Amino acid sequence: MMRQAGRYLPDYRVLRDKYDFFTRVQTPELATEITMQPVHQIGVDAAILFSDILVVLQAMGLEVQLIENKGPVLPDPVRTAADLNRIRVPNVEETLGYVFKAIHLTKQELNNRVPLIGFAGAPWTLLCYMVEGKGSKTFDMVKSFCYTQPQLAHTLLQMLTDTTISYLKQQVKAGADIIQLFDSWGGLLSPDDFEIFSLHYMRQIVHALNNEVPTILFAKGAWGSIREMVNTGATGIGLDWCIRPEIAREMAGKEAVLQGNFDPARLLSPIPELKKEVIKMLNGFGQSRYIANLGHGILPHVPVDHAKAFVETVQNHVCKNRGKQVFSSL
Ligand code: CP3
Repeated sequence: MMRQAGRYLPDYRVLRDKYDFFTRVQTPELATEITMQPVHQIGVDAAILFSDILVVLQAMGLEVQLIENKGPVLPDPVRTAADLNRIRVPNVEETLGYVFKAIHLTKQELNNRVPLIGFAGAPWTLLCYMVEGKGSKTFDMVKSFCYTQPQLAHTLLQMLTDTTISYLKQQVKAGADIIQLFDSWGGLLSPDDFEIFSLHYMRQIVHALNNEVPTILFAKGAWGSIREMVNTGATGIGLDWCIRPEIAREMAGKEAVLQGNFDPARLLSPIPELKKEVIKMLNGFGQSRYIANLGHGILPHVPVDHAKAFVETVQNHVCKNRGKQVFSSL
């Protein structure tokens, strides 16, 4: 489940009351403990490292705060050529070593029970926070930045890409079994601008990693570009819940692995109804080249037994269909 390590789990909230967000992220023992919580408590089939996409911006020299009920805030966003002096493509071992330590520790804890997913934000989504300085519904400030200062925007996107490539390669070296790229704001761009400001850079990352691990691209709302995302050579494409499985399959072609796409808010339905909806999704995607997942991050007020019901429904359905070569050659 996207964002499976986090706020809906009572044990996470205990650690949240004790340590601030970036202490949790930067202390390998805490990050490992939080990563393991959903594996133990929900029975998910993969762990996803507890961290955040914004650590890459910190490593590049920017201050990032996480403010309760407000989300991420960058007090000094990047908006002019002069601001370039404040940022760098960092040595990731020096600046993000705590992530690699957390991966190493988590792999020991997992002891091959389930695989570990490493991740990073897509350069476009990171640029959104870098320029805007906070979350936004439309991200019109970063769009205006790209349309009026394209050269500067591309310099920054390339710096983000280069940093992300060395960051992810190091995650793989530390033990990550698969890598997911989160382009949460990719769907705010037109298909042409998505190619120019996002996909061009994600493609470089996929190519840099493809010989080492499977890669999954999740670009929320960018269904118009499913075919183009498949053509990057990524192993899988993550989908949000606003597209029908059958249409996504038609656009992606027979060979692509699709991942998704349960509406996270649907986990708030009464359990019998939630189960029916999950089975509908599973039937829509069919039995092969498919990874069941949410279509975006789990919400903080989802009851734990509803999250469990989601996972169990998927697992039971898979068991029932085992004879039909489930998980055939991902
Ligand atoms: O379980 C997991 O998926 C691993 C951990 C993870 C977090 N953030 C932990 C987190 C992952 C994969 C992310 C990715 C992330 N972070 C994205 C991309 C995916 C998406 O959801 O679109 C984005 C855009 C961010 C930036 C970010 N981090 C925001 C906007 C926020 C605040 C809003 C929110 O959802 O709480 C965060 C904080 C954050 N990252 C929390 C967690 C568990 C909440 C911290 C807390 O309140 O304890």
